[in-house]
Amino acid sequence: MAIRNIIKDGDDILLKKSKLVTQIDEKTIQLLEDMKETLKKADGVGLAAVQVGALRRVAIIFDSNAVNPKDRIIELINPEIIHQSGTQRDLEGCLSFPGKYGEVTRPMVVKVKALTRDGKTKTYIGEGLIARAFCHEIDHMDGIVFGERVEKWVNVR
Ligand code: NI
Repeated sequence: MAIRNIIKDGDDILLKKSKLVTQIDEKTIQLLEDMKETLKKADGVGLAAVQVGALRRVAIIFDSNAVNPKDRIIELINPEIIHQSGTQRDLEGCLSFPGKYGEVTRPMVVKVKALTRDGKTKTYIGEGLIARAFCHEIDHMDGIVFGERVEKWVNVR
């Protein structure tokens, strides 16, 4: 496992669309493991593969409120939002934009379908912060950075 460099604001790769994973191979597993280490070190909520330079539809989300410790890291391969409801407006940030925060409106509840590392289809229901993270990471896969959705920038000290 290795900690990878998180790509920062100003690099155009963040604006590129990621490709579907067609085969979950050793490289994909390595990517997931490296992303986990990287996210842990950066102390973030979520990380998309594009942020470590891999244009693949892969992301991980750290759910600190998960009851079961093994559910704390959600691995998403080729995720798709299949349902969403309600709205929430709250502060959002991104590891690729250190020190920048803004208010973004997102759905309150999001249902996501994705592949697991074993290639099985799994459905997740995220509420609040996790719903926000699902939307944020899937946006990354489409080359959309959160700043494009910020309604009001906020100074956080
Ligand atoms: Ni981000």
